[in-house]
Amino acid sequence: MSVDPAVVPQWRLSSGALVPAIGLGTFGSDRVSAEEVAQAVSGALEVGYRHFDCAAVYGNEDRIGQVLQGFPREQLWLTSKLWNDKHARDDIVPTCQKSLADLRTDYLDLYLVHWPFPNVHAPGAHVDSRSPDARPYVHEEFMETWRQMEDLVDRGLVRHIGTSNTTIPKLQLLLRDARIAPAANEMELHPHFQQPELFDYVLAQGIQPIGFCPIGSPTRPDRDRTPDDSVDIEDPVMVAIARDHGVHPAVICVKWAAQRGQIPIPFSNRRNEYEANLEAVVSDPLTEAEMRAIAGIDRDNRLIKGQVFLWRAGQSWEDLWDIDGAIAS
Ligand SMILES: NC(=O)c1ccc[n+]([C@@H]2O[C@H](COP(=O)([O-])OP(=O)(O)OC[C@H]3O[C@@H](n4cnc5c(N)ncnc54)[C@H](OP(=O)(O)O)[C@@H]3O)[C@@H](O)[C@H]2O)c1
Repeated sequence: MSVDPAVVPQWRLSSGALVPAIGLGTFGSDRVSAEEVAQAVSGALEVGYRHFDCAAVYGNEDRIGQVLQGFPREQLWLTSKLWNDKHARDDIVPTCQKSLADLRTDYLDLYLVHWPFPNVHAPGAHVDSRSPDARPYVHEEFMETWRQMEDLVDRGLVRHIGTSNTTIPKLQLLLRDARIAPAANEMELHPHFQQPELFDYVLAQGIQPIGFCPIGSPTRPDRDRTPDDSVDIEDPVMVAIARDHGVHPAVICVKWAAQRGQIPIPFSNRRNEYEANLEAVVSDPLTEAEMRAIAGIDRDNRLIKGQVFLWRAGQSWEDLWDIDGAIAS
């Protein structure tokens, strides 16, 4: 079973470019090796995916590039991301060039600033670990980084630039000062974390939302779990709708995301799962009543809280997300 890529819906960005309405995530986390992620990319190409959400920090772009090599480039949508330790002015162009070389391509369709903070931690660090060099968001510093992102567009190395893990107050400043506005914003989005305010804001600004952890990342590492976290695919509303459609609740998460207007980027290295996720966006849509029922189960349950990026002792993860409408300093 595969899906004709021509029938996969696409969203039109403010530039006019078309982006497939679903992508394959490529973060293997602690569980899935670079080799296995690359195999998933290969299988996903076979079943009809043409959009891949990559990042330098996932440590697998070189293996993914080996799979993509030789595939007609114009048929692909490739996203990559600038990691937090490469925000400095002179690092950005070479870092992007490294992703280009690893992915065996001359250009990226979309390059995101992965987090708005230049704060780094060791891979797999405990959530309580803090970098002594960590700093709050400083807009002038972020704009230095953004100017280089704009330069990447000018040089033809990337077609669009965007943000990830950002907030309305930070986007307001960026939109005020940017020469090239973000084309997309990658943000955590799943039925228990719908972020309606940020979602509506980015759409109103002509920024395409891309939703990460669309299934609620049920297999995320223990360090990314807190006792209050809920499980989207066990929600009775999701389970009931899934039963009615004869699919796994994960597939309902993907349908909901695509129909709502965000681009889901689910990950799986199991062929039956990533195939079902692609099928989800081309067949058997949810009814309006089902969409409304899912809109009603939001629990504001952020899973990727980002604790390791905090910059001061005694802070809580909410400080990263400008919850009271002001940028925390
Ligand atoms: N910008 C950012 O900061 C950021 C942050 C996090 C993630 N991301 C991106 O978002 C992508 C997705 O996030 P994620 O992998 O954490 O979470 P996710 O896509 O919500 O969940 C992935 C897990 O869901 C299960 N699954 C997937 N499809 C399924 C299906 N059809 N039926 C049953 N189970 C299914 C799989 O578990 P099993 O393998 O156990 O079946 C899979 O490991 C990442 O790969 C990455 O590209 C970006």
